[in-house]
Amino acid sequence: MLSVVDEIKERLLEYSKKSFEKDGYDFWNNHIKYVFKNAHDLAVKRGADVEVCELAALFHDMAMVADFGPREEHEKYGAQMARSMLTELGYPNNKIDLVEKCVLNHRSSGGKTRDTAEEQIIADADVIAHFDSIPSLFSLAYNKINLPMEEGKEFVKNKLTRDYNKLSPEGQKDLKERFQTIMNVLFVD
Ligand SMILES: [Fe+2]
Ligand SMILES: [Fe+2]
Repeated sequence: MLSVVDEIKERLLEYSKKSFEKDGYDFWNNHIKYVFKNAHDLAVKRGADVEVCELAALFHDMAMVADFGPREEHEKYGAQMARSMLTELGYPNNKIDLVEKCVLNHRSSGGKTRDTAEEQIIADADVIAHFDSIPSLFSLAYNKINLPMEEGKEFVKNKLTRDYNKLSPEGQKDLKERFQTIMNVLFVD
């Protein structure tokens, strides 16, 4: 029998495959697999619930991948998906509550307060994932928005700087060296 995490991962991969066939964006390979790995590593490092963090990483953008509800509210619809699937799989209610909170509060907008380590881990894991897939940010700048060379560079630089500033103090400390290296290597004046 599959573990709950593997079962949910299979469902997400299925949604991701369909979404890729429809509009060519590979959610799993370009974003969620990094969030999943970062969530696992941060949970171990910070002594949080690893399984809850892994599940929350799988659910955090699932509503967008599955095209369920409006994109701007994907945290709410993702939280609904988490509750219904995990209830169906007989997952403990207190852990469902925590997964749901992580999904609901993963975005930086809206002045949310995160009062558990797991919620902060998902928010940090989501942001750090942008540093794991920098080529996709350049692709967005040059291929999708069609920016000229210098503006594209500026776009990616500003995006990564904003992301870094969104991290928790702990996340900033972890990423500091890598962030500075990336800035120095990619954006020489
Ligand atoms: Fe999201
Ligand atoms: Fe995300």
